[in-house]
Amino acid sequence: MALSRVGQRYLKIFPSGCKILSCYFSHTAPTESPYWHEIFKDKKIRAFDEIPTVGPVLEEYKNFKIHEAYQRWVLEVGHVVKELFPGDNCCIHIYHDEDFSMVYKNDGRFPLRKSHDVIARYRRDRPHLYNSVGLGAGMGAEWAHLRGMLPHGVGRTIYMPFRPQLEEVADDFINLVQSKLDENSEIEILPYLFRWAFESIGVITLNRRLDALSQVGSEEAENLIKAAHLTNEIIFLANVGDSEKQSYRLIAPQDYFSRIIMEYVADAALEPGSSLVNKLVKEGCDYKDITTLILDLFQGAISTVPLTLTWALYQVSRHPEMQERARKELMKMMPSKDTRFYDTTLEMEKQTLRIADSIRYTRAIIAETLRLCPPAIGNGRIISKDLVLGGYMVPAGNMVVLQSQAACRLEEYFERPLEFIPDRYIDREKYYQKGMVDSPFGIGIRSCIGRAFANAQMNLAFSKILRNFEVSYHHEEVGVINRLHNEPDRPVLFRLKPIPQ
Ligand code: HEM
Repeated sequence: MALSRVGQRYLKIFPSGCKILSCYFSHTAPTESPYWHEIFKDKKIRAFDEIPTVGPVLEEYKNFKIHEAYQRWVLEVGHVVKELFPGDNCCIHIYHDEDFSMVYKNDGRFPLRKSHDVIARYRRDRPHLYNSVGLGAGMGAEWAHLRGMLPHGVGRTIYMPFRPQLEEVADDFINLVQSKLDENSEIEILPYLFRWAFESIGVITLNRRLDALSQVGSEEAENLIKAAHLTNEIIFLANVGDSEKQSYRLIAPQDYFSRIIMEYVADAALEPGSSLVNKLVKEGCDYKDITTLILDLFQGAISTVPLTLTWALYQVSRHPEMQERARKELMKMMPSKDTRFYDTTLEMEKQTLRIADSIRYTRAIIAETLRLCPPAIGNGRIISKDLVLGGYMVPAGNMVVLQSQAACRLEEYFERPLEFIPDRYIDREKYYQKGMVDSPFGIGIRSCIGRAFANAQMNLAFSKILRNFEVSYHHEEVGVINRLHNEPDRPVLFRLKPIPQ
């Protein structure tokens, strides 16, 4: 497929990957011999067949506990692990910084990811609605065309004009949560966070309130959120076999999700305004492409940020001294409950600097949460060139998983890696940190398109929660299950004590 004008523009902005990527590599380019020369003293490259092998481990996928196996393998098997699947399939897990660098550096113009085949199939079967399979599932020029519609992702120019509305949404969320506390002042906050995230993505894409945070709630919003969760679970299960059954399971939630979001997009396109939909319409983007992109942004936004915030709250409820330290800076920034998080009297640049300076420790808590419990365990690529990874020759066409979360728990990259230490993001010299394994959003031309928005939203909501409530947790320890994203294995009931002033 020839590259569209939009796709060409994207590749012009990021000619060889992207600026951020070349900056990463200038720090990490190996100047000495590769690390695996220490493992294979003869320095000879091993064949693909010699990679230590595990699996199949279907039970761990089906129990949603596969992240535990990923963490075990690096300790018990090594830095490069071949996982066998039933049939003739396999994938290669990598854990070493230099191998991450090798994969990202060879991403090329069209990095390939294959995790969303079931979505690709659903959309390909419906050409009257979709020109392409979308961002998550897309490959090659088709993907670059869609990505080129948002060359800077959901970045500052997209969400900043909506800061007052986004803060209003966050305030509605806080008020709703306060009104729903039970007799012990407890609440399972995650479902409300999903509603908040849904409402917020609606604001920037459609310039519309979707009513997800009203007292009674909205059945439509609830159903859309459920459909997005089910879609994630199906994407996950389809990757480990059973793709026929999962394709069938996907039809009902996707029919519902796409029909309603497409109606929202159609309404937004008719309204004059500054929403993302309006912007894309004005730029002359194809209407089917716009709906596909907006569907993918809704899907990407609903779970990731809420899950990260839940893990961050869980951490600070176990570390009250950290919570107090964060609250101290938040009280300084927002001395009264009415003080705005976004000071819109300042110009954009100054607003951003004010936040960055005022909530350094709060941001460090979020960064440390993303290191220890990110929503995605890592990142996948189908490599398009033969690559030597950890001393093994891995031929082009193989699926490689960059095991970021498991690598972030290794002592070679982080001092006391299993401890929750936000200060490591403030005093980087004191706490040893190395390289690019700590990449919760991925790196380069295909990294998370929602990164800037996600960070802004996490800062906003986490600050509001800690400014308004003392958070504690009084129940059994929470474990993790993974259904595409790391989720709590039980409802997490936080006790929220409102702060009077
Ligand atoms: C804490 C929050 C988030 C994390 C940790 C996260 C992480 C990721 C990762 C690891 C990828 C794959 C990157 C790669 O292949 O190199 C990704 C892709 C993506 N994310 Fe996010 N994400 C987050 C929030 C969001 C939000 C808020 C949105 C929507 C506004 C979003 C939309 C997407 C989309 C559409 C893709 C596919 C991009 C492509 O293939 O071109 N994500 N995200």
